[in-house]
Amino acid sequence: MRTVALIPAAGTGSRLGLDRPKAFVEIGGVSLAARSVAAAWASGVIDDVVVIVPAQLVDEVARELPGVTVVAGGAERSDSVRAGLAAAGDADLVLVHDAARALTPPALFTRVVAALIGGAHAVVPGLPVVDTLKTVDNDGRVVDTPDRRVLRAVQTPQGFTAEVLRRAHAGAADATDDAGLVEALGEDVTVVPGEALAFKITTPFDLRMAEYLCDGSTQ
Ligand code: CTP
Ligand code: MG
Repeated sequence: MRTVALIPAAGTGSRLGLDRPKAFVEIGGVSLAARSVAAAWASGVIDDVVVIVPAQLVDEVARELPGVTVVAGGAERSDSVRAGLAAAGDADLVLVHDAARALTPPALFTRVVAALIGGAHAVVPGLPVVDTLKTVDNDGRVVDTPDRRVLRAVQTPQGFTAEVLRRAHAGAADATDDAGLVEALGEDVTVVPGEALAFKITTPFDLRMAEYLCDGSTQ
């Protein structure tokens, strides 16, 4: 059984708004991408790691992160995941993990892989939603208030059998996460408990929060 982690790190980080691609912003001298790679290895359940980066950074990242495969990403996250999948070889299980979720505890990788070994074909970590969510129309008028007890805020790593993930990415469907493509195939997706520390660093506030949580440590 070979398990490969794909780490998409090829986005620009437009919402963070710094002068370098978000995954290469550092906390305590360690980039978000390097932290995510380290978490994958530390889980003990990953055999190989593929990091997907902006094309101009492939050589530099390959030097800085020995032991991982580095490939160039594409314009959309799904293009980057497809590029990573092409480099995943004969994987049995594939985990896809946003580089931007840089503080994710290694135990979350372990939990997702355990659910796959237990027989699930697609697994996502999810947290209960604490805010009340509203659907709105184009004028900002509230249309509906969904029952939050049935909602989950979904994170990564998302785990799949390689067969299901390849089929999902071969289709024409569009989705904001990999599990969404699997849902479009009509396949079941299983939710396991997420982790607050697996939050995605998206905005300047999130980066400050991550710096605060790391408290200057390089771990
Ligand atoms: N990603 C990627 N290739 C893309 C877009 C995103 O590999 N074309 C990666 C990002 O590097 C990130 C993860 O997918 O680790 C989640 O995306 P997001 O948080 O949206 O990051 P960015 O797209 O970089 O940020 P923004 O949307 O603010 O520009
Ligand atoms: Mg993005």
